[in-house]
Amino acid sequence: VHSVASRSSSSKHLLTRSFGTESVPERKVAVLGAAGGIGQPLALLMKLNPLVSQLALYDIAGTPGVAADVGHVNTRSEVTGYVGEDQLGKALEGSDVVIIPAGVPRKPGMTRDDLFNINAGIVKSLCTAIAKYCPNALVNMISNPVNSTVPIAAEVFKKAGTYDEKKLFGVTTLDVVRAKTFYAGKANAPVAEVNVPVIGGHAGITILPLFSQATPKANLSDETIVALTKRTQDGGTEVVEAKAGKGSATLSMAYAGALFADACLKGLNGVPDVVECSFVQSTVTELPFFASKVKLGKNGVESVLGLGHLSDFEKEGLEKLKPELKASIEKGIQFANKS
Ligand code: NAI
Repeated sequence: VHSVASRSSSSKHLLTRSFGTESVPERKVAVLGAAGGIGQPLALLMKLNPLVSQLALYDIAGTPGVAADVGHVNTRSEVTGYVGEDQLGKALEGSDVVIIPAGVPRKPGMTRDDLFNINAGIVKSLCTAIAKYCPNALVNMISNPVNSTVPIAAEVFKKAGTYDEKKLFGVTTLDVVRAKTFYAGKANAPVAEVNVPVIGGHAGITILPLFSQATPKANLSDETIVALTKRTQDGGTEVVEAKAGKGSATLSMAYAGALFADACLKGLNGVPDVVECSFVQSTVTELPFFASKVKLGKNGVESVLGLGHLSDFEKEGLEKLKPELKASIEKGIQFANKS
């Protein structure tokens, strides 16, 4: 027993020396909607992230159980469950990153915009609390329709006087994850090496994967590119239909959400060259919000990168998506300002 104890304490000492927590800053991450289909696996994935020191799990019900469960995983972060609006402030206080997968998901036959009436109200109230309790946090918006919920959040923050356009992100990472998976299949490339930027927004034709910029390069036919584009745009619907009434993407979304939050944390910690696609305030097009590659830094968005060279097919897609995206943005702004 003695030798085991001394060995473990010496290896602990070594670990402290080489990967001491001194060099990894304390970071609090809050997940709002943490008991849901996305929230639960996302809570688990964030628990596995060594950059997180405190993990706050908030929902209107069910979070004590999720927190007790995830909290037993022997990784760095301390997990606390918060339930009900009375505890929202405590969940948010001191957060560096707030991830929002709260709200209802789609059922077969629904568009993301059909979720607007319920989710817009949820996002508005959660963002009002963020402005009050953690106005400096980076906000990762997952709740749909992202094309409208991000503008709603911006308006809420503007009214509260806390808006910082560098700190508000619509999470479109799942579109990138899907584009990479589908492209790797057709290009016969190792999926881990594949990169595909996805621009525009996060609904139907507003999702525009730029396969002309995909790496590694592959000589795919025009038909294949058209089919890949459509499959990426309809990826969410593919899952909604397969789940047949039991919701939309949760596991792949949790993965994508965890990837994006990790990129935000790395940026905050000063890791150089962290680039992800995200739906942010933008001047890349004439629209006030737009998804494109974004460089992440110590204050959130360090720079919004340009679109690069587009093929004729992509240029056409870009012009086609603008009216729909514009309308969704305006719908969000109007909602936030009407009440
Ligand atoms: P779900 O219904 O399984 O979970 C939603 C959770 O939000 C529930 O636990 C519910 O109690 C909670 N909730 C409701 N009102 C709340 C409030 N006021 N405060 C805190 N929590 C609240 O739904 P799921 O599948 O987890 O989806 C969540 C959202 O994510 C949906 O809006 C869905 O459309 C969206 N989504 C976004 C994707 C993206 O790529 N950005 C991909 C997939 C889904």
